[in-house]
Amino acid sequence: MQRLTLTRPDDWHLHLRDGELLRQVAPASARQFARALVMPNLSPPVTTVDQALAYRRRILDALPADSDFIPFLSLYLTESTPVSEVTRAAACPHVLGFKLYPAGATTHSEAGVRTLERIYPVIEAMERHGVVLQIHGEVTDPEIDIFDREKVFIERELIPLCRRFPALRLVLEHVTTRDGVQFVREAPATVAGTLTPQHLLYNRNALFAGGIRPHYYCLPVLKRETHRQALLQAATSGSPKFFLGTDSAPHPRAAKESACGCAGCFSAPLALELYAEAFERADALDRLEAFASFHGADFYGLPRNRDTVTLERAPWRVPETFGAEFDLVPLRAGETVTWRLHP
Ligand code: DOR
Ligand code: ZN
Repeated sequence: MQRLTLTRPDDWHLHLRDGELLRQVAPASARQFARALVMPNLSPPVTTVDQALAYRRRILDALPADSDFIPFLSLYLTESTPVSEVTRAAACPHVLGFKLYPAGATTHSEAGVRTLERIYPVIEAMERHGVVLQIHGEVTDPEIDIFDREKVFIERELIPLCRRFPALRLVLEHVTTRDGVQFVREAPATVAGTLTPQHLLYNRNALFAGGIRPHYYCLPVLKRETHRQALLQAATSGSPKFFLGTDSAPHPRAAKESACGCAGCFSAPLALELYAEAFERADALDRLEAFASFHGADFYGLPRNRDTVTLERAPWRVPETFGAEFDLVPLRAGETVTWRLHP
């Protein structure tokens, strides 16, 4: 196959940042995707509908004038989020849910939740209103091996949460393990999972190939090959419970190439090309459209997009930097990608 035309996809997990960095990265996502669910881990975090609406305006202002890209927002849950914010979120068409960051799990998660029980009233309201909970599914217990943090989160937190709130709609974001895949698969249709390009294409060896490779470091961290295979199988299975969420998370080069480098892979400029590569390797290009363009919209109860994008088989070299104000290193920098988004 030389050309592949699909319904324009959406990105259901994206970090766009703010200010000048937002202006630099937002057009890349708008070129690839029709819509995105934008994460609220700014500093300070986006915790209220009013803040989300102001952030949404800044995102729209960062886009080219002719762009029809639609950003949706997720609100950052804290232990002091009031139940009334759930009612407001349920009534706001631009807000698609609340993001649960276990405090300390990742970038700007300090204001997140330490004890899940403390937010049970808020979760109960979300269940009642059908508001989706987007979850960063890792425990932060330093005793737990970093490669086991997703599995242990599922056992300790997620399974009890689902038992207590059986009708809660939730997305286990950036699933990285076979345990995560199994959890999503066995859960009711109210539960889904997003998958990133890096976790579909790479295992943890990529972090240490010939030396330490900070641009492959994200959280949850890449896992071993058996897990990658389970993720790829889930993505290409045709199950409506799995859909595209890049978790593209830009950090300036100096913050990545550091003695204590930040977590995050910046995939926005070539995300769809990377997913196409993963699906092609699994001989499942015919399943890419549903994963990238249908399952997420269906889960969020939004219409599927009507326009299309075309990928061509035209290998190209990914630039070393995605420059302008900030020096950003895209995933795959300096290497070749098989597919190219047209034009
Ligand atoms: O690698 C990551 N980067 N994982 C996250 O959960 C957050 C993100 C970021 O915002 O940089
Ligand atoms: Zn993320």
